Amino acid sequence: MLRLVGASLLVLPLLVLPACDRPVIPQPRPEVVAVHSASSFAVDVAFDRPLARAAATQLADYALTPPAGGRIAPALAMLVDTLSGETVRLFFPLGTFADSTVYRLTVTGMRDAWGQALAGADSVTAEFETGLWYSRPIRELLARKCDACHDAARAGGDYRTDSYAALFADGSDAGSSNPRPNLIPGDARSLLVIRTSPGHSMFNIAHLSYAESQLFINWVVTYQARR
Ligand code: HEC
Repeated sequence: MLRLVGASLLVLPLLVLPACDRPVIPQPRPEVVAVHSASSFAVDVAFDRPLARAAATQLADYALTPPAGGRIAPALAMLVDTLSGETVRLFFPLGTFADSTVYRLTVTGMRDAWGQALAGADSVTAEFETGLWYSRPIRELLARKCDACHDAARAGGDYRTDSYAALFADGSDAGSSNPRPNLIPGDARSLLVIRTSPGHSMFNIAHLSYAESQLFINWVVTYQARR
């Protein structure tokens, strides 16, 4: 108990001090909502809980802010993980997004499946970068969810995920009569894509979120596994 009190006394000034001299701006809340680029005209908005389905697809709930300012509404909103109802794909008019650029997405008035506002707030904002590259965000995702079993020491299935080149290497069935490639840019039948899809082995074993599994397929198929 004493240690707990000690810890909170240490943390308290950190919480209070910044509040004194800064205007109150809603901060991004990655713990409630995370946004990922899905293509040159779509983003995936991943919530940390199931949504009220009617609210999830209401276009007026979403506003995109480009670096230059302003607000752009999506043209279409779809629940893409229909099972758990936590990920919404927003489609924007072609030409909305510049590649490798940071945008902000604000979600207002969203309700979860139990009718509650998200984290008690009416509005949540998250930043994201358009376009997918190996260097960002795929490397970080592999490091977090795959490398532990697919490094030089363990190489599950004779496959390594700890370098860009290794992702393209032959896997466990290289010697078989019908070897399947682990990664072919643009090919959704790459083992890397299949195994990380919802319900498949690496999706389950690495505890991928639906949005994380979409990062693999979008990077390989849409962005041709670019570096
Ligand atoms: C807990 C350990 C573990 C984690 C975490 C894990 N893997 Fe695996 N993976 C394995 C093992 C063991 C195999 C070989 C057995 C099999 O094919 O299921 C394998 C096989 C594979 C294969 C097939 C390779 C081949 O040539 O047969 C791919 C592709 C793959 N993993 C990708 C991934 C990706 C991408 C991630 C991260 C999202 C990941 N794995 C996370 C243990 C793991």
